[in-house]
Amino acid sequence: MNKKIFVFGSSGQLGKEFINSKDFQKNFNMVSFNKNDCNITDFDSAKEILREGKPDFLFNCAAYTNVDNAEYEQEKANLVNNLAVSNISKLCEEMNITLIHFSTDYVFDGISKRSIKETDRKNPLNFYGMTKHLGEEAILKNCSKFFIFRVSWIYGKYGNNFPTKIIKFINDNADLTVVDDQIGAPISTSGIVETIFKIISQHELTNNYGIYNISPNNFCSRHDMAEMIKKNFKNYSKKIYRIKSKDLNTEIARPQYSCLDNAYLKKTFKIKLKNWDDYLISFLEDLYCE
Ligand SMILES: NC(=O)c1ccc[n+]([C@@H]2O[C@H](COP(=O)([O-])OP(=O)(O)OC[C@H]3O[C@@H](n4cnc5c(N)ncnc54)[C@H](OP(=O)(O)O)[C@@H]3O)[C@@H](O)[C@H]2O)c1
Repeated sequence: MNKKIFVFGSSGQLGKEFINSKDFQKNFNMVSFNKNDCNITDFDSAKEILREGKPDFLFNCAAYTNVDNAEYEQEKANLVNNLAVSNISKLCEEMNITLIHFSTDYVFDGISKRSIKETDRKNPLNFYGMTKHLGEEAILKNCSKFFIFRVSWIYGKYGNNFPTKIIKFINDNADLTVVDDQIGAPISTSGIVETIFKIISQHELTNNYGIYNISPNNFCSRHDMAEMIKKNFKNYSKKIYRIKSKDLNTEIARPQYSCLDNAYLKKTFKIKLKNWDDYLISFLEDLYCE
């Protein structure tokens, strides 16, 4: 019988990608829970759902992800990204469920200009990053069968994200100004889902629990990403202007250099990852083939 996977946060861009994945649908018994089905901050309800359903895996895609608002809604962000995650990780331990959780480059400060390894010292710059860091620490403390996959700059067809915003500007033939001093490792939700499918369907997991970066082989700036998207829209002939992060109208600090190193993941699971632009091109093709 196929193993059972519960997906919490199934209406988010990553959650939807898991639920709609043909590979996962064919090989696993996928059960989706959006915020109405399971609000992870309702600890009793989460417990009841897991106890009744007895999944083999819990994919926690639920999160408070609005980086700017997290500064003003600190209690709420902490409840979702830290306290609820702590509760879930205790339940997984009690019920022998393997927890798959997602974290972020925002647990780092991005000050050193080299790619970030899983074991590097954390130092979040903003409250969102702090809550994600605390959520990670709670899992490490409470749970033995877990994977924390750190991802950055994610985008996919089910979300409102950097590429979809750029595409909207292009379709409106509007002027574009994009920062060129934030460097990162963008990856599509389909790239993440494909990687996790390979890991959990082809590998012995027991000896490999832990924290892994899922990121492409190389890095780029936001401006590079926008230029790559523009190449796919031949009718858009405007120049994409460069600006610096300090000129953006935000007071919330963000890491400048967010390049997660994928060497540990590749070595452990013998997995090939693509370059950032290959993921982006597949995403664009997918978007316009449907
Ligand atoms: N997006 C990125 O660039 C990025 C980068 C690095 C890491 N990550 C991490 O990757 C994971 C997936 O992110 P994503 O981009 O898919 O985020 P997303 O699109 O914002 O999805 C998060 C989902 O969680 C739901 N949610 C919020 N509070 C909840 C609660 N109390 N109970 C149950 N569900 C709740 C949201 O529902 P509502 O919308 O109704 O509130 C939403 O459907 C997160 O852990 C995030 O921290 C994302």
